[in-house]
Amino acid sequence: MQTSVFEDQGALARELARRITDAIRQSPAIVLGLPTGRTPIKLYDELARQTAGRASWARVRTFNLDEFVGIPASHPSSYRQFMEQHLFRHVDAAPEHLNFLDGTAPDLEAECRRYEAAIDAAGGIDLQILGIGTNGHIGFNEPGPELAARTHRVTLTHETRVSNAGLFGGNVEQVPVEALSMGMATILHARRIVLVATGGRKASCVQQTINGPLTTMLPASFLQLHPDAEVMVDREAAARLEGATSR
Ligand code: F6R
Repeated sequence: MQTSVFEDQGALARELARRITDAIRQSPAIVLGLPTGRTPIKLYDELARQTAGRASWARVRTFNLDEFVGIPASHPSSYRQFMEQHLFRHVDAAPEHLNFLDGTAPDLEAECRRYEAAIDAAGGIDLQILGIGTNGHIGFNEPGPELAARTHRVTLTHETRVSNAGLFGGNVEQVPVEALSMGMATILHARRIVLVATGGRKASCVQQTINGPLTTMLPASFLQLHPDAEVMVDREAAARLEGATSR
């Protein structure tokens, strides 16, 4: 897997935003897979700034990786609202092209199938951006004895609920116990994947993702199988990578 190390979060965000902006200019109807979380906030800031007046989002289609079960799209803690706040309301995106899982759908299994079909109907994901949990999860594919291939309903680990507590006023008890998430095959079918990790807390899972064995106990390790996956990290997240030099 190609690995690029950046001096800091800002340099990483600028470079990735530059690449995504170029990709939108080249393919105005590009299909993007997008994460939420703390990591992409700077990226989305940069992306809104760099695309302004240079690249239109009008035909861009997006699919977010995951959403909490039981949290309506209008709820301030939903991932949908996160995306509105950090990216979509700052760009000229067309609401009908922005796809989210509905964690309040009456039949959640049918909702997962609908999402898979919508990704297929869009022609698949051209560029999937990922964050990574300290436990190696991508999307909400949590470590365990087996991994789900397709979009599915998942029980969140305590660790993941703790890291999402910020969205719920710091109260982990308020974080839903379940979510809907793209599966491993959904993610691995993207034509191109960029995993972003910043900060020392991610140094260990980044090291294992790149150099460790493939294991369901570290879902991100399966990215090693992808022909066009890149890991973009800042210096702190690269701390355990031997011979990594930053740019
Ligand atoms: C969120 C998602 C998660 C996060 C991961 C890292 O849509 O898919 O896998 O990318 O939990 O979160 P942060 O960036 O907050 O460390």
